[in-house]
Amino acid sequence: MISVKHLKKVYPGATPLSDVNCEIKKGEVISIIGPSGTGKSTFLRCLNRLETPTSGEIWVNGINMCDSRTSLPKVRKNLGMVFQSFNLFGHKTVLENVMMAPMDLLGKSAEEAKKFGMELLERVGLAAKASVYPDKLSGGQQQRVAIARALAMEPEILLFDEPTSALDPTMVSEVLSVIANLAKQGMTMIIVTHEMRFARDVSTRIFYMDEGCIYEEGTPKEIFDHPQKELTRNFIFKIKNWLYEIQKESFDFYEMMRSLEQFAERQYLNRKQILNLRLALEELLYRKIFPAYGSVPWHVFCELTCSEGGSEIALTLKCSGLQKSPLSADFGDRIVDAILCKYLQLQSSDATTGEFVFKVTL
Ligand SMILES: Nc1ncnc2c1ncn2[C@@H]1O[C@H](COP(=O)(O)OP(=O)(O)OP(=O)(O)O)[C@@H](O)[C@H]1O
Ligand SMILES: [Mg+2]
Repeated sequence: MISVKHLKKVYPGATPLSDVNCEIKKGEVISIIGPSGTGKSTFLRCLNRLETPTSGEIWVNGINMCDSRTSLPKVRKNLGMVFQSFNLFGHKTVLENVMMAPMDLLGKSAEEAKKFGMELLERVGLAAKASVYPDKLSGGQQQRVAIARALAMEPEILLFDEPTSALDPTMVSEVLSVIANLAKQGMTMIIVTHEMRFARDVSTRIFYMDEGCIYEEGTPKEIFDHPQKELTRNFIFKIKNWLYEIQKESFDFYEMMRSLEQFAERQYLNRKQILNLRLALEELLYRKIFPAYGSVPWHVFCELTCSEGGSEIALTLKCSGLQKSPLSADFGDRIVDAILCKYLQLQSSDATTGEFVFKVTL
């Protein structure tokens, strides 16, 4: 249904796509993952010709999207797109937003467009908001309207560019659940996303983009559990592990916590688990480890490894230069000890290297 051959896109000063090749069949759900700046958005924008490729071929249902004789509005109708920023028209109601394109571009009557629009709003759970203006909706609701609006054109393929990354974390799942339902109904979709759990659950295939191409592709299991190539392995490792280096001279506790929280949210830890993890780490560092260093500059390397869903979490601390175990030191604070005992169980320690491994129970 989609066939991409040697797609290249050059900007002055950047070549995000150097040689992209793929075949996507009807009913497939492809998630595109990869580091920032690797051309994921550029690829989606080339697919529906919001961008003009420098060279290469894009075929959609046997039509060459790169041929100057191809009528773009006609083929673009087949490729709906949902962006990170919802781009709803603020001066139109929710229903009017959904009705507009079918009336203007497909020549549907107002009555027809309204009937179908209400069905779609029903599908994304927003029929009750039909006559409301977008600024009265939450981000998650606006994005669901944007999905209904894309569906109103009855596209064969839906493209999503990070549909949840502009949303407050509490609203991510309502949008993902709408997309997951579309996947169940057999909609062909290509989704650029940072939501790895979602990508694993809904996708038939994962494309890892890097170095200007689809660097590695495979089933979710292949890519997430057994990535074969070096850059994919590094990327997946970073998703599953949080590494943080603390040095006395440059330590910023709040920056560390921000980074930890981002990681914990990606692992789907809930609010309470995240707070407990913060508390345990804060007490361990400030009440045990930093005092044990005395006036010697700290240099601590933290590593947190999470299994799927956070059911098993391991914390490794490498406290370089520390002569004896900071945990054995008694600073006389029973509450701190109780907190640490509750959340952290020491699995192994090596006082000569200063390495401590804990099992974390939140
Ligand atoms: N219109 C443009 N003009 C010049 N350079 C551009 C343009 N659009 C994108 N680029 C460059 O192309 C590269 C790829 O950008 P793109 O937005 O496709 O990456 P991405 O993988 O979507 O990244 P992110 O994960 O941050 O969204 C970047 O280096 C970017 O600066
Ligand atoms: Mg992007």
